[in-house]
Amino acid sequence: MKAITYSRYGSPDVLQLKEVPKPEPKADEILIRVRAVEATKSDIEMRRFKFPVKWFWLPLRIAFGVTKPRRQILGGYFAGEVESIGTAVTEFGEGDQVFGAAGLRFGAYGEFVALPARNTIILKPGNMSFADAAAVPLGGLNALHFLRLANVQSGDQVVINGAGGSIGAHAIQIAKSMGAVVTGVDIAIKEKFIRRMGADHFVDYTKENFTELGRSYDVIFDMVPGSSYAACIRALNAKGRYMSGNPRLSVMLRSVLTTRFTDKTARFGFARELKEELLALKEMIESGKIVSIVDKVYPMELAADAHRRVETEQRLGAVVIKIGDLGVEIPGE
Ligand SMILES: NC(=O)c1ccc[n+]([C@@H]2O[C@H](COP(=O)([O-])OP(=O)(O)OC[C@H]3O[C@@H](n4cnc5c(N)ncnc54)[C@H](OP(=O)(O)O)[C@@H]3O)[C@@H](O)[C@H]2O)c1
Repeated sequence: MKAITYSRYGSPDVLQLKEVPKPEPKADEILIRVRAVEATKSDIEMRRFKFPVKWFWLPLRIAFGVTKPRRQILGGYFAGEVESIGTAVTEFGEGDQVFGAAGLRFGAYGEFVALPARNTIILKPGNMSFADAAAVPLGGLNALHFLRLANVQSGDQVVINGAGGSIGAHAIQIAKSMGAVVTGVDIAIKEKFIRRMGADHFVDYTKENFTELGRSYDVIFDMVPGSSYAACIRALNAKGRYMSGNPRLSVMLRSVLTTRFTDKTARFGFARELKEELLALKEMIESGKIVSIVDKVYPMELAADAHRRVETEQRLGAVVIKIGDLGVEIPGE
């Protein structure tokens, strides 16, 4: 099968389209013919092995390969069709159109990926193309996890810091569906997009600091690693909640102290990416509460360009790589 591979860490040019062996599903696994995969910020961070939060570096390097990547096919969030199932799998059948997350196995930059059926993989929404569906799991699962953790209530003032990104664009829509009044913070070129996603207010972080506008908030969902923790906590109302998706070590420590000793709560960590959460997202999609926004779809041959597009931060929505032969009609599109 064809796969976009990388055998060393580095620039987008390390990505190579190669023939590799097709995986065989084990008894509890399904073999998925991947149709589309999101090129995510996390793929880029793994490829160049640079992370905005420095403490990730050593444990991840040990886990993922010290001198070169141990898993050479990236791609964590995808849509495709079930090609075959392992002998113990009962919940999927051949030909099912699915979308979901590969977890730490990655592998969705290849024409086929074998994954445990218990992974966060479910039937794709009927009203979505493969490309649109591939753009949902990363942003949707992370946004839903943190907004549920924040216990967003109708009427809450919610800030999404990094609102124009994959997670941010979903967070705006989900927070609106929870009844919040949303302020999106990002760069000016993304204002129209962020308002289209439903944000009530917009702050251009290159011109203003949302923590210094004399406004206060019930929830701050922060994807930006360099934010001032103290300023964010000060900008919260009594009983306010600060959610960090990209915590520095100092933020983790201070979050514990804030939660223990003040009337505010600060939480950090990784989204668990549960099947139940993907089902909730599917319902939101089918009932029109959230839409998936694809900036551009690239063929496999231009995977390096897809990565460059994510790196330049000019995109409005998800960058998706179409997996399979160029020119082949994708069923469901
Ligand atoms: N905790 C978790 O479970 C988890 C899971 C997945 C990802 N993450 C991390 O979360 C981060 C966001 O992920 P993503 O996929 O949404 O990334 P993304 O698509 O690149 O979005 C980040 C957004 O933040 C904006 N931004 C950059 N600096 C900013 C600032 N100072 N103030 C406000 N906005 C700013 C960026 O725009 P401009 O650069 O154009 O300004 C971009 O629109 C990534 O670093 C990723 O590694 C965490």
